[in-house]
Amino acid sequence: MINDLFKQPLLFLAPLAGYTDQAFRLLCKSMGAEVMVSEMVSADGLIRDSAKTVQYAIFTKEEQPFGIQIFGSDPLVMAKAAEFLLPFKPDFIDVNMGCPVKKVIKRGAGSALMQDPQLAVSIVTEIQQALSHQIPLSVKFRSGIDNNNLNYLDFGKRMEAAGADFICLHPRTAKQMFSGKSDWSHIKELKAALTIPLIGNGDVSSPEEAKQMLTETNCDGVMIGRGALGKPWIFRQSRQMLSTNSYDPITKDILLSTILRHIDFALRFKPEHVVVKEMRSQICFYTKGLLGAAELRNRINHTESMDELLSILSLGLKL
Ligand SMILES: Cc1cc2nc3c(=O)[nH]c(=O)nc-3n(C[C@H](O)[C@H](O)[C@H](O)COP(=O)(O)O)c2cc1C
Repeated sequence: MINDLFKQPLLFLAPLAGYTDQAFRLLCKSMGAEVMVSEMVSADGLIRDSAKTVQYAIFTKEEQPFGIQIFGSDPLVMAKAAEFLLPFKPDFIDVNMGCPVKKVIKRGAGSALMQDPQLAVSIVTEIQQALSHQIPLSVKFRSGIDNNNLNYLDFGKRMEAAGADFICLHPRTAKQMFSGKSDWSHIKELKAALTIPLIGNGDVSSPEEAKQMLTETNCDGVMIGRGALGKPWIFRQSRQMLSTNSYDPITKDILLSTILRHIDFALRFKPEHVVVKEMRSQICFYTKGLLGAAELRNRINHTESMDELLSILSLGLKL
């Protein structure tokens, strides 16, 4: 099953809490994203069957292959959460061991687990026992806590030995958060040390960079996060780049029709007034660098109506 998933280097949409909701995922899928992962979902919330938490694990068939990412620090709770998710029929479960955000690490979860590899091993072992290998289990982590504790190699090998079916590495330290540049040499090194597939992640924001990461590191897939915000076509372009070394440019026509499709997907899940508000930040991403973008964004930030939003967009983005 896992080998089927990795027949060719895959293009993943990264989990971005607050951004990669179902609407954005469906949009990326329609533009070539090949594997999707949920935003991180609290294992504690899942086992309490909290409706608010469970909603983050919901996906549609159109989003598959789809993984649900869980975070937490108690191996038994994590295993129960994975078991709870089996009836949702995800294609895999992913464990977040990379999140550097304070409210996550103070609970011993996310990147805090890189400081306690033995606990991380127990989490993977318990989850695998609960899943009985019915679906693959992956782990996403960083290069280490800080530059003095770069333990990605040892950590990755331990995750493999504990039963992880594949791994995703974002080669920054937790201390770095999102500053500096991710160090792709860590991806290359870890790939050479593992027998399970490795997904590379970090700072891919163009089709050229997607190809470069695959070539430089020999990884089995590329995961794109911030590079897809306002540019969901990056997946289709990257696939083209990998097969023909060139890709179709994006015209204003495609830009406008993509934003309209994004709005359509969002309206499937949320009421109109919420979508109008949420599209403000999305339109910032879509119009970055465009002539007259500041004026367009200013007008959009002041509208509460979908009709007005659509007319500002079609006027502002006309050819
Ligand atoms: C706003 C935001 C939210 C994120 N949420 C998650 C998350 O829920 N789970 C996770 O594993 N990583 C999360 N990440 C990290 C990304 O998945 C990814 O590892 C990181 O952004 C580097 O990739 P990129 O340069 O392609 O964005 C988040 C990053 C950002 C900027």
